[in-house]
Amino acid sequence: MAMHRNSTSEVILNSFAEDVNDGLSSAFKNLPSKYFYDDEGSRIFQQIMALPEYYLTNCEFEILKNRSSDIFKALDFKVHFNVVELGAGDGSKTLELLKALEGAKANFTYLPVDISSEAISILKEKLQQELPTISINPMVGDYFEILKEIGSEQSPSLVLFLGSNIGNYPHSEAVELLQLVQQELKANDKLLIGFDLKKNPAIIAPAYNDASGITKAFNINLLTRINRELKADFDLDKFDFYSHYNPESGAVKSYLISLAKQEVDIGALNKKYQFEANELIYTELSKKYSLSEIEEMATNTGFVCSKHFLDSKNYFSDSLFCKEGK
Ligand code: AVJ
Repeated sequence: MAMHRNSTSEVILNSFAEDVNDGLSSAFKNLPSKYFYDDEGSRIFQQIMALPEYYLTNCEFEILKNRSSDIFKALDFKVHFNVVELGAGDGSKTLELLKALEGAKANFTYLPVDISSEAISILKEKLQQELPTISINPMVGDYFEILKEIGSEQSPSLVLFLGSNIGNYPHSEAVELLQLVQQELKANDKLLIGFDLKKNPAIIAPAYNDASGITKAFNINLLTRINRELKADFDLDKFDFYSHYNPESGAVKSYLISLAKQEVDIGALNKKYQFEANELIYTELSKKYSLSEIEEMATNTGFVCSKHFLDSKNYFSDSLFCKEGK
């Protein structure tokens, strides 16, 4: 694939095209879930977070509303510190933590990081309205570029990776990601990471296949995005959505299903793709963890898991990982 160097968006478009081609050319077709989040996809995800079935949002909101002063105490930061949020999104749950920190007279700067400049500017405005006195330094960009910068900072940092975003990564990639974070952190830095916990499968399954069809629309929007950005001709009515929770592995897997034998032309790739009737396209992993698996993950990545902060139903954990146990 030829690389264009004249603008950032073309480089991004190129890797999108490349990933779509790789995914649709493989024996078991797949599309990476990170491409769900164009502007429309981000709006649909906001609707998912408001669904009655999608318990994750309320659980983490409750944790940050009720436990933030305990989280602050557990940090044991005595001087000015940074709160660096990876994938800040709309920041509505984080607002609860920031309010508590302000209430406790903590001396801190909030550094939300997101790949979407639209998300960052909305968040910035919201914070200026609701918490005008806190110091903020929003950043648009790649997680690791920014982690490198904070590694060279004087102030200790609390890194936030909330919302069960870790759940999208297969085990080996999750380990790699946490190892990279671990390497960039300073001795006293901490990581607060949101894990969705294994629970009754009858609670988990509908969270990823809601009655009103929003999760289906979220998946179908990926085909709409390919049609628009890569000049493809996916017939949206010829695809359905399926998701499945495996309580043994803790994996929710989501799929698009081809409802007919069909051919799809992707103009930007100058290529046609064949789909059998009932052929699946794997779109997303949403992994659930047990507390012992979380602790094992911390140990395997050089962290010490010092505390789990759970909601009242024990559905979700914001777990505190320390670079160095003390
Ligand atoms: C944003 C990755 C946490 O996996 O629960 C919600 C995305 N996908 N419904 C998740 C999602 C379908 C979500 N994360």
